[in-house]
Amino acid sequence: MYQIYVRSFADAGADGVGDLAGVRSRIAYLQRLGVDAVWLTPFYPSPQRDHGYDVADYFDVEPQYGDLAELDALVAECRSVGIRVLMDIVPNHCSSEHAWFQEALASAPGSASRSRFWFRDGRGADGEVPPNNWSAEFGGSAWTRVTEADGAPGQWYLHTFTPWQPDFDWSNDDVVEHFDRALRFWFDRGVDGFRVDAVQFVGKAPGLPDTEGDAPVSPARNPHLSFVASSHAVWRHWRATVDAYNEAHPARDVFLVAEAYTPRRPDILAAYVAPDEFHQAFSFDLLLSPWNVATLRDAIDAPHRALTAAGTTVTWVLNNHDVQRAVTRYGRLVAHDVSSWTGSPLGYSDSEVDVALGTRRARAAAVMVAALPGSLYVYQGEELGLPEVLDLPDTVRTDPVFLRAGGAEIGRDGCRVPIPWDDDATTACGFATAPATPWLPQPENWSTWSVARQEGDSDSMLALYRATLRRRTELAPHEGPLEWVLTDHAQLLAFARGDVTVVLNPTSDAVTLDASATEAADIMLTSSPGHVDPRVVPADTCVWLRS
Ligand code: GLC
Repeated sequence: MYQIYVRSFADAGADGVGDLAGVRSRIAYLQRLGVDAVWLTPFYPSPQRDHGYDVADYFDVEPQYGDLAELDALVAECRSVGIRVLMDIVPNHCSSEHAWFQEALASAPGSASRSRFWFRDGRGADGEVPPNNWSAEFGGSAWTRVTEADGAPGQWYLHTFTPWQPDFDWSNDDVVEHFDRALRFWFDRGVDGFRVDAVQFVGKAPGLPDTEGDAPVSPARNPHLSFVASSHAVWRHWRATVDAYNEAHPARDVFLVAEAYTPRRPDILAAYVAPDEFHQAFSFDLLLSPWNVATLRDAIDAPHRALTAAGTTVTWVLNNHDVQRAVTRYGRLVAHDVSSWTGSPLGYSDSEVDVALGTRRARAAAVMVAALPGSLYVYQGEELGLPEVLDLPDTVRTDPVFLRAGGAEIGRDGCRVPIPWDDDATTACGFATAPATPWLPQPENWSTWSVARQEGDSDSMLALYRATLRRRTELAPHEGPLEWVLTDHAQLLAFARGDVTVVLNPTSDAVTLDASATEAADIMLTSSPGHVDPRVVPADTCVWLRS
């Protein structure tokens, strides 16, 4: 599965912002890469306060990105070459510009319009204290006070993210019915499924109790706001809607993948992929894992065990639009735990980055993850080995993570810089079809990573991804088991997939394998150019050995 951040993929309109027509113009590239499906990040009408994760209308296309006809054309063309299309859907909150929220603001406390959201009276003598002590993701209180129609300070509304993203109250029937309609609306247009945003925050503990203690608790760690057990009823309802759709349309096989950050809690992850809930849920432990054998093994083994026991497979991911790119994470010389947003041990560390080292490790990680049983999502630019752009000037940063933290958190713009397709500086390295200024500036040397340059280089990251995705099909990727082998080599992480042994050496020294392990073995795939001896695994390398 290939994740397209629409805004930054390809710009057919040459206005500096990616669009659906741009995606359509690059289908041949996706085919050549060897992906089965694409996931498009939100392209609904939106004020773009969180780049589309603030949806103003769930039934239309943001004019900057195209229109419904353009979406239909994209879906049809993808389908004609066997690529399925997933959209993003945001059930936890909408944009404050959404008609329902505007209607709620104009309505009185206690009205039906307000009951689709979480409006509550404040505490204190004049209601000037928020209804509870919850914090928002990206900083500040999770409550914002409104001004009532008569001009007086009034009720407060709940927002897990920014004030421009009011949370829906899922106990309201209108909300349930609205999303049922939205799912069917897009399925009817040929969309094959949804990546469902921030599912962990849908559902709030009854009575909205305060978190304990005086210190602010982030939403992800707020037990009254995250993973509230009763919310699973929502997903069972969605699954029933999807199953009914598939039943009524025998030629279709639409599906749902959940986004929930469940660090080191495979039991919570497993609950989302129960047979009557999501078909897939991203496992983020590997993405959050530092580069060492023990944590990598645990990040694979724990979700694999839990999901296998639950009768399903893991959905692996090394990158997405919310975290620093793997090349940069793995190129850190020092690992810190500094991100409130991802909890990543490497994510927002400001320690020095060795891009060459990070690239070597990212290559190894890609070759390793592609061999694991389950599904794999690749984030645009990962296949080019793009590093995180760390030195964007503050003035161009747009991410609410950065803006809400007053610059204290660097934010996510650095993994969203438009893709370099070729060497033409006037068109933002081929991102745009005509001269244009990209919405985020590309670094001077961005064309170093361009598709055009990598096309002709058999040692490039792009060549490695193409080869890896092709060879992956030989491993029956959707089936287990995963058997750990070569466990005498404490420095290595190795597993068997049928007659293929996958060996990762995440250390800085080459490792010589036991003769018995490599007897009559051939290198099927290696992350290190020039690696020809199956008995030796170079530093920071992953190899597939076939016996
Ligand atoms: C998800 C998205 C992220 C967005 C947030 C709020 O985690 O991946 O980009 O900011 O939800 O919708």
